This record gives sequence, C-alpha cells and structure tokens, in this order.
Amino acid sequence: MQTTLHTKLHVAIIMDGNGRWAEERGLPRPDGHQVGADAVRAIVRAAVEHRVSALSLYAFSSYNWQRPPAEVAGLMGLLRHFLLVEVPWLRDFGVRITVLGRRDRLPIGLAKAIGHAEASTRDGRRLHLRIAIDYSARDAILAAAADHLTADELSGRLDTEDVDLMIRTGGDQRLSDFLLWESAYAEFYFTRVKWPDFGPDDFAAALADYHRRTRSFGGVVEAGAAAAPH
Ligand code: IPE
Ligand code: IPE
Ligand code: MG
Repeated sequence: MQTTLHTKLHVAIIMDGNGRWAEERGLPRPDGHQVGADAVRAIVRAAVEHRVSALSLYAFSSYNWQRPPAEVAGLMGLLRHFLLVEVPWLRDFGVRITVLGRRDRLPIGLAKAIGHAEASTRDGRRLHLRIAIDYSARDAILAAAADHLTADELSGRLDTEDVDLMIRTGGDQRLSDFLLWESAYAEFYFTRVKWPDFGPDDFAAALADYHRRTRSFGGVVEAGAAAAPH
C-alpha cells in the first residue's frame, strides 16, 4: 500500500513494548530489544517507500539509565551495532542519519559510531532518520532556550520540523518526554502492538489513519481544503 505523496511528512515513533514482548515469551528482556532492532530496519525501509521525509525514533530516553546495568549495556551495544551494520545500506538508500540527545554519557564506542554514521550519511536526501539516544525533550528545550529566542529560532535550534504523526506502540498512551515542542500539533496514533511485532503493514495503517484526519490547526477547514499550520 502506497500513501499519497506529500512533500514533507515527519513521523515520530515511541518504540515501546520490547520488554513485555520478551517476557510474554518467557525470554529475557534483551531478546525483545534484539528483535526490536530488526523491526527498526523494516520500518525505515517502509518510511522511504511511503515518502516520509523525516522519521524520529525514540531509542533510549534519559530516564532509561535507571534500568538494570546489564539491560542498559545491552541497549548501548545494540545501538552501536545497529549503526555500524546498517549505515552502508542506509547511505545507499539516501538516508541521512542524525542523533538527538546527550553524547557525554554514552560509551565511547557508541559515540564514535554516531559520529561515523552522521558523517557518512550527511548527503542523504530521501529520508532524514533521527534517532533519539539519552534524550529528554525538556532537557533539549532547556538547552536550546538559554538565550532570548523567537519560536522559529527555538525550532531551528532543536534542529527539527514539527512532528505530523506521533506513533506509540506497546499500548501506553503517553509521550515519556519525547519531542514535546515539536509535537505541539502532532496527530497521535496509539497501538497495542508491541514494537518487535510492529511491521510495515502496521506502519501503513498508521499513515492511512493519519491521512484520513482533518488538521485544522485552530482554524476552520472548508470541505476539501487543506489547512496549513500558520
Ligand atoms: C522500549 O521497550 C525500548 C526502550 C525503552 C529502550 P521497553 O523496554 O520499554 O519495553 P516494555 O515497555 O518494558 O515492554
Ligand atoms: C519510552 O519508553 C522510551 C523509549 C521507547 C526509548 P519507556 O518504556 O522508557 O517509557 P515509560 O517508562 O513507559 O514512560
Ligand atoms: Mg516501555
């Protein structure tokens, strides 16, 4: 299924439910993260096919440091491995990778893999893949708002377009401090499907749902007319 071609569409995903997916199967939680990494690969491809212009993925929040050290270490290793292994095809696919969040608390190997991924994909024009690692939207806003700024300048410092569609898998209905500023007018899509099971068909269903919605941005939308945010 191919959705309508839009010039700009920013989709954000809170990839939740890995741990419960594993526990349901009597597996250790890290197995859920491992299968979750495979799901990321498939969804990035689907995003390119659906002409999504930006895809923001919440991979590790600043609150996730509170998890058991072994789980944290596993996640850090998985992220590093993902970046190292996936970068060649992502680059060839025209994907530009940038990573949001703090870098100073990450293991050096992961920080290096991020630098390498960003440098070698910087010319990608088909999809901007933004991966949030050690990310807190409140921290990002505080860091960006240190000086007196206009709203546009703040958006510029946060280095992002507004989110059009915010998806959360795993059944919970909250933002967990992801992209607060950028989601001011986002459409929300919550699904009970846990991230490791979230496939291209689920992604297409979320986009189709989004395209059926009317976005009035506080105005009044005439039948058949599209609203614009400003
Ligand atoms: C999301 O899955 C992945 C990360 C937060 C890193 P969880 O690990 O939060 O899975 P649940 O919510 O415990 O099922
Ligand atoms: C949000 O999931 C963060 C990521 C998906 C990376 P969590 O599982 O950490 O969020 P809470 O604790 O349910 O809010
Ligand atoms: Mg969770």
